[in-house]
Amino acid sequence: SQPCDIYAAGGTPCVAAHSTTRALYGAYNGPLYQVRRASDNTTRDIGVLSAGGVANAAAQDSFCAGTTCLITIIYDQSGRNNRLTQAPPGGFAGPAPGGYDNLADATLAPATLGGQKVYGVFVAPGTGYRNNATNGVAKGDQPEGMYAVFDGTHYNGGCCFDYGNAETNSRDNGNGTMEAIYFGNIKVWGYGTGNGPWVMADLENGLFSGVNAGYNANDPSVSHRFLTAIIKGEPNHWAIRAGNAQSGGLSTYYNGPRPNVAGYNPMKKEGAIILGIGGDNSHGSAGTFYEGVMTTGYPTDATENAVQANLVAAGYAPYSGGPSGTLTPGASISLRATTACCTTRYIRHQNDNVITSVITSASSALDKSDATWVVRSGLASSSCVSFESKNYPGSFLRHRNYQLYRNADDGSALFRSDATFCPQTGRNGQGTSLASYNYPTRFIRHYSNTVYIASNGGSNAFDSATSWNDDVSWVVSPPWAQ
Ligand code: AHR
Ligand code: AHR
Repeated sequence: SQPCDIYAAGGTPCVAAHSTTRALYGAYNGPLYQVRRASDNTTRDIGVLSAGGVANAAAQDSFCAGTTCLITIIYDQSGRNNRLTQAPPGGFAGPAPGGYDNLADATLAPATLGGQKVYGVFVAPGTGYRNNATNGVAKGDQPEGMYAVFDGTHYNGGCCFDYGNAETNSRDNGNGTMEAIYFGNIKVWGYGTGNGPWVMADLENGLFSGVNAGYNANDPSVSHRFLTAIIKGEPNHWAIRAGNAQSGGLSTYYNGPRPNVAGYNPMKKEGAIILGIGGDNSHGSAGTFYEGVMTTGYPTDATENAVQANLVAAGYAPYSGGPSGTLTPGASISLRATTACCTTRYIRHQNDNVITSVITSASSALDKSDATWVVRSGLASSSCVSFESKNYPGSFLRHRNYQLYRNADDGSALFRSDATFCPQTGRNGQGTSLASYNYPTRFIRHYSNTVYIASNGGSNAFDSATSWNDDVSWVVSPPWAQ
């Protein structure tokens, strides 16, 4: 049986069940999520390979071939239609038209589940999903539970990568008007031991790591590649639990009364559902979501332990096929253009700029070195990669104002994000395309022999949709300089 069968058997059934990777009921045979492609703006529902099974990612791959896809709907498998869609503006306006938040690129979080390729929901800052008109989700001080599986290596210090219960008007309605899982390393409110990231409860105007505002010693930094995170609450009682979704059991980081801060007992939950944002539509956060549910009633630890066992058996693993397999940290590589004009051109730096140049065996040693990069684990996320200059160690390929430069790592969070790129199969079917970590709908692209992060159509000349698929596809080649 699947997680929602386990919760039902425990007397605390799911009232919302979201996943882009698998069915959360043994009998579920409907759509998991919907994608929309850029080429013609049409949509396609992505379902399961069999009832109760994993997502049919091949259907997404064929529908999205040669174009880009966004995740437009994450369906609710519980039968209550508590689906998640593009989050509307609230206390804060999002970056998309009308103040909505961005939708997630559908291909940025590949993984495997039981050996099958699947895709998670990659939340870059500005991305958010929400449902403000739900059915059956806890309100007021009613009991509820929730778990989610995140990428524990993908997080940041922005507010607030959440999954769970929030305000129905997308505004901050005061202490106790939320109850959601938070994951990340922001220290504005609560935190635990180490430097983070931490699993905390977002209860509005506070991320809580235990009974106290601020520090609680029992909430450890935790960053499993696949992280099970749990928050549950009932009258004057709540808990934080977490574990490695790939092995072992759950640990309890907090189990006790509501925070010793006014306004959180009783709770004033409103019953909206958020993913990737704060209750007031704060959208500074990053993370990756694979699956999650919300229940009615306070689940027992035993029920959650059985869900964790189900996760371990389901078998999440990193996706190692495709382009990332050729981008091994430590390897020296060169990146060759695939557009017909330019198949002898490679990404190289010159002064601090980044351009493409024709490089051949007859090229100078300097040109060859300038066109060689050492692959590093992504400075902002080990799920992605960074490119260190071969002849300027400590300098990396990074974007600034959407143009690429070779700059020394200044250690800032912005630099690390600007210098991190997430590989995926080349958009034109050749080689690898490299999505910007912090602008994930933008890919490394050559345009007039200068290199940018470009979107497929947009306001800048270098965003031109003409030959975009070719211009963002690069063959990872043997290094010109050893
Ligand atoms: O509780 C932390 C955050 O504070 C909430 O997510 C948001 O609504 C508010 O800004
Ligand atoms: O390249 C886009 C943004 O422009 C980068 O994140 C930042 O460095 C600059 O402000």
